[in-house]
Amino acid sequence: MCSAVRPPRFAPELALVVALAACRRPDEGTQSVDPTASIEFRIEGRTVRRLTLAALERAAGVETVTNFDAYYRREKRFRALPLDRVLTEGFGSLDGLRAKQFVIRARDGYTVPLAGERLLEGGAFLAVRDVENPSWEPIGPQHANPGPAYLVWRGATQTDLESHPRPWQLAVIEITRFDLAFPHTVPAGEAADSAAMRGFAIFARECVRCHAVNREGGHVGPELNVPQSIVEYRPEAQIRAYIRNPLTFRYGNMPAHPHLTDGDLDGLVAYLRAMSLRKHDPDAPRDGGAP
Ligand code: HEC
Repeated sequence: MCSAVRPPRFAPELALVVALAACRRPDEGTQSVDPTASIEFRIEGRTVRRLTLAALERAAGVETVTNFDAYYRREKRFRALPLDRVLTEGFGSLDGLRAKQFVIRARDGYTVPLAGERLLEGGAFLAVRDVENPSWEPIGPQHANPGPAYLVWRGATQTDLESHPRPWQLAVIEITRFDLAFPHTVPAGEAADSAAMRGFAIFARECVRCHAVNREGGHVGPELNVPQSIVEYRPEAQIRAYIRNPLTFRYGNMPAHPHLTDGDLDGLVAYLRAMSLRKHDPDAPRDGGAP
């Protein structure tokens, strides 16, 4: 409130400036912290547009969004751009986008596949400013800066990080099918109802965002298949226990997966075993690694 401003003891012109600054509500600014940062829009690997946050703010409009944020474990308030408007600017129109598959890539290596239907269900926003903290409140186990663009969801039912992922440091929005973006993560030839295929579905839904297999996928966590598969150097019981609760091993950056059943873990291990027989490593030294 403006009444909180103490009576001035200095020049009246200056007092006015001070009073105006104090009266300005913190969410009135429209500038993102880094308006020159840009978002790249791609279709199947090809860049179709790159727009600065300043340009996106002008075109898409910015509003204040309050939501429960599972990373911060409380309600947060952001200045944010409606994602449907952002996608319209990036891809020209929303026509057909609902039926497409997307991959969102972040600066820190997080790479999350998302259905267009999900992104356009309503409630998705690109936060460009933390209203409570102009230099962004640190996020996640490594206390990262989520800016300059952080995907948030406004709805009360949109707080689950598996179904409604919140990539921070968002850099690229790409329209592409999973099998085009990550062709060598597919356990080709496995029967549709096999354990390996069930495990692949879980990997695609919950793990590829942070882990690569055959050099395709996120790189927040370690590559799981090449040069050696995790099943070649870790005992199976340890892999299963690690996936379910990594914090019993080390204070790292992998979230626990308490919801995965024993059957889910059977599937994941079967998938990792199947991939260990399908290695593809474009980075392997051609001379066999001899110095
Ligand atoms: C938010 C990112 C993230 C997600 C999601 C994630 N991981 Fe991880 N994972 C990591 C990181 C980072 C490490 C490295 C060790 C650490 O920090 O805990 C790791 C380590 C591992 C390891 C142990 C590697 C080793 O030998 O030390 C395995 C196995 C693993 N992850 C499997 C999975 C599987 C399977 C899933 C999906 C169910 C998954 N992870 C989901 C980030 C993630």
